[in-house]
Amino acid sequence: MSAKLIKGTEIREQILEEIIAEVAEIKEKHGVVPGLVTILVGESPASISYVTLKIKTAHRVGFNEIQESQPDDLSEEALLGLIDKYNKDDAINGILVQLPLPKHIDEKKVLNAIDPDKDVDGFHPVNVGRLMIGGDEVKFPPCTPAGIQEMIVRAGVETSGAEVVVVGRSNIVGKPIANMMFQKAAGANSTVTVVHTRTKDLAAHCLRADILIVAAGVPGLVKPEWIKPGACVIDVGVNRIGEKISEKTGKKIAILSGDVDFDAAKEIAGYITPVPGGVGPMTITMLMKNTLKSLKFKLGII
Ligand code: GUN
Repeated sequence: MSAKLIKGTEIREQILEEIIAEVAEIKEKHGVVPGLVTILVGESPASISYVTLKIKTAHRVGFNEIQESQPDDLSEEALLGLIDKYNKDDAINGILVQLPLPKHIDEKKVLNAIDPDKDVDGFHPVNVGRLMIGGDEVKFPPCTPAGIQEMIVRAGVETSGAEVVVVGRSNIVGKPIANMMFQKAAGANSTVTVVHTRTKDLAAHCLRADILIVAAGVPGLVKPEWIKPGACVIDVGVNRIGEKISEKTGKKIAILSGDVDFDAAKEIAGYITPVPGGVGPMTITMLMKNTLKSLKFKLGII
């Protein structure tokens, strides 16, 4: 193996320790801790496992946390009512509605109903706009792209002037990370190309990348011959390709695969993120960071 592994599990520990220390300091000086509400509608196993981990992490860093587990047939009106309740709740700094929502609920309407100052996911159009403007305007960078940028920076990879190629154009990852990497800012200043399902020659674009960020949701899409030797490869794919019995718990767990052919790519890349244990742990970590930030904005200390 020639590539250096960028481990989200390790970076997560560093950042969570920083958050724990800040929460303790704010508690001592201001007598408050961040408050986060997680809203889960339905019983999708993937969503349940993500939300459970978010709750566990919130506890670990000393936040107050409220769980709203709602049935699959919850009406849109009732969900909007819940959001309104927490928008008005002074003890809540962050509102997280786990996506995807059941088909009968208009996701856009729901995301737009969250107070932009409590939108720790960074999905509200106001926060998307703030991200686009950049600089001091940015309040809550969306969690997965923020985690990706943090990993690149903490690994010591130069971003200024780098060719960044983003594979995928989703609202959650592709569009925001592309926007963040070309900003005039530390950890950015890159030249960015976004490629997608209609791009004519994916391989040729990827091969130019100094930093290749892959968020396509297609297992093994990126082949080793698409990778420039020494490039930094960030694999955002979390594809469930089967099930196995966990040696630790004896329970059935998903077998995960990324969007990059990891075993071959690691012989060519300079840096690479594994799946699992790469970008995944960073998303929840940055959610904690945004929730803490929300309280700091409220207290006027940033
Ligand atoms: N579903 C998949 N990723 C996310 C995320 O980052 N936030 C929320 N709220 N739902 C998700």
